[in-house]
Formats: sequence, structure tokens, C-alpha cells
Amino acid sequence: MSDKLFIFDTTLRDGEQVPGCQLNTVEKIQVARQLEALGVDVIEAGFPISSPGDFNSVIEISKAVTWPTICALTRAVQKDIDVAAEALQFAKHKRIHTGIGTSDSHIKYKFNSNREEIIERAVAAVKYARRFVDDVEFYAEDAGRTDNEYLARVVEAVIKAGATVVNIPDTTGYCLPDEYGAKIRYLMENVDGIHNAILSTHCHNDLGMATANTMAGVLNGARQVEVTINGIGERAGNTSLEEVAMIIKCHKDIDIETNINTQKIYPTSRMVSSLMNMPVQPNKAIVGRNAFAHSSGIHQDGVLKNVQTYEIIDPHDVGIDDSSIVLTARSGRAALKNRLQVLGVQLTQEKLDHVYEEFLKLADKKKDINDDDVLVLAGADRTRNHR
Ligand code: KIV
Ligand code: ZN
Repeated sequence: MSDKLFIFDTTLRDGEQVPGCQLNTVEKIQVARQLEALGVDVIEAGFPISSPGDFNSVIEISKAVTWPTICALTRAVQKDIDVAAEALQFAKHKRIHTGIGTSDSHIKYKFNSNREEIIERAVAAVKYARRFVDDVEFYAEDAGRTDNEYLARVVEAVIKAGATVVNIPDTTGYCLPDEYGAKIRYLMENVDGIHNAILSTHCHNDLGMATANTMAGVLNGARQVEVTINGIGERAGNTSLEEVAMIIKCHKDIDIETNINTQKIYPTSRMVSSLMNMPVQPNKAIVGRNAFAHSSGIHQDGVLKNVQTYEIIDPHDVGIDDSSIVLTARSGRAALKNRLQVLGVQLTQEKLDHVYEEFLKLADKKKDINDDDVLVLAGADRTRNHR
């Protein structure tokens, strides 16, 4: 049987921290219900101590969804944990996500502390959270820049204290994939009791490596990934859910399963983008406007002969109706002929050659050639066939 990879969605916490992306409670409930339909295992619903609005959202999301675990973030501070536990009171499955910075710079500059004291605070927070819930996740903030030996001591101590999941965030998006994968491997091999907990990835995209790092973590033993829809999140964002879900689906050689209903990926992406007023970059993998658009003549010709030549994902698998052939100055005759046929226009080879020449002249001047342009060039209209 394949291993299960748990999908922990933090769109409503790390994603919602992005300036301009704030949602009200009603909108958050809408996103949470969609995430439930998408099949995520854990919804990080907020950071309840941060504001009364966030506290209220965690309460309402807990009431609104049934299957996913609802998770609330805290610092390793008793008051935060008290408030998180209260906010989670209506959740059917609940988790407290507590933690503290473990890199030398966090220990020195944020906490003015030392390594031993940080372990004590981490252990105390996990034990305290366990008084309220059975499921406690610990995050070692800036684990990406924490040395592996010390990190292993932290992880071992929090698992002994009762952590069920241990999150290894690359908070600053600094790690290289090999380095991050080796970190997870080191923890898998050197922490006593590691099999009593699940290791989780939480990667940021500052250097564009969030998805690569997440996958390196998975390939080395992590069994939970922390992700957001469209990859939104602090600064350059978090690992995007849709990328990880589709990598796992496409690479059958990675013997791992997720619970994601991939056909709901695109509708979820659109919903988050529109509610958060956050456009998706056109070339974004999986959900960008151009992700399934073929624009060069060589590619278009290949795709028209057989889609497998240039498509590794069936667009239906992510909830997109079809791939598209975009007409530009780089398009060939095959693409133009195909578009004319779709519009009900059949031309002789001679006429097609002529229309193609005119098409190239227009395409050099105009970025996007639409159906009306094509019909005008062919001297046709939408209602009649042209022979
Ligand atoms: O990036 C990070 O380290 C975080 C933690 C709070 C989990 O978001
Ligand atoms: Zn983060």
C-alpha cells in the first residue's frame, strides 16, 4: 500500500498574512468549505491570539467544516495556547500548532536566549498544549538555518513531550533542495522516537525553491506538507498546494498518495484569487492562464497531432476544460487551420496560404489574435461555412 502524504493547508494563516489578502469571516468560511471539498487533511485556520477577528474565524471555521483537522497557530507561550484551545472548542478534529525559533540568529536576536533554554521552552509549550488537545504540532522556526545536530535534539525533546507532528520550516526560503532533503533524512535517522511523530515540511519561496524543497523533504521521509493555494504567503509565498498535488499524481514512481480531488484545484485557485484580490501570474504552474496554452508553431503542430507531445497533465485532471492553442505571430499554418475549422470555416490550401500570410502581418502588430480577427481575415462570419 502507498504511504499517505498529509496535506496541511495554510492559505488562511500564512497565506492570509499577505498585505491586501485579508478575508472576513464569511469569506474564510467559504474558502474553508472549498478546502474541505478539495480534500485537504488539515486547515490552519488562523492565529487566534493575533486579533479578535482571527479568533472568531477559527471558531466559525471549526463549526463549518467536518472532516479536516482544524489547526490554530500559537507561539510557545501559555496565553497563546489558552486562546487557541478556546478558539478550537467546536472543532471535530483539532490541533494546536505551537513553536519557537531554533536557529542561532532567532535564539540570539529574537529571544536573547540560549539553546538549552529554547529546548526547555519548546518542551513546556508542547506539554501545556497537550493538556487541551491530543494532536499537537511543534514548529522549529527557521529550521532551515538551524544546525542539524541541535535541531535533532529539539525534535527528540518535543516528541518525548508529546508532539504528534514536527514541522521543519525553511522560514526564509534559504535551503537548497539537497540540503533540505538531507536535513529531513538526518532527523529520520538520528532522532530517537521519530516514528512516534510525523515530520512536516513548510517551505517558503524566497529563492523560488519552495516546491523543490518540499519534494526533497517528502522523498526523504516527511509525510506532511504545508502548502497554500496559488502559493500565496509571506514575502515570495509558500509552497503551492496544486504543484505538490500534481507532482505526486504525475509521478507514479513516487509511491505516495494524497487525498486531494485534483479536479477541484482550478475552481479553488479561482476562488482564492478572487476573494483575496490576488491575481495569479499567467505562467504559474498548474493554475496560471498560460499553464495549458500552446503558442509556438512547433508546439501547436505537435499538440494537434497528439497532445502527449507537449502536455504532461490532462487539463481536466485539474478542473480546466481544455488546453488552448493561442494564435500569435509564432503560430503555424496548422494552428490557424485548426482554429478556422473549430469556427466552421474550411479553406482550400491556396486560400489558407493567403490567409496565413495576412494573419502573420496582423499578428506582428497585434499581441493577441482573437476569433473575430481570424474570421475577418478569412472573409467569413460565424454563421456560414467558407469553401
Ligand atoms: O515560516 C514559518 O516558519 C512559519 C511558522 C510559524 C510555522 O510560518
Ligand atoms: Zn511560514
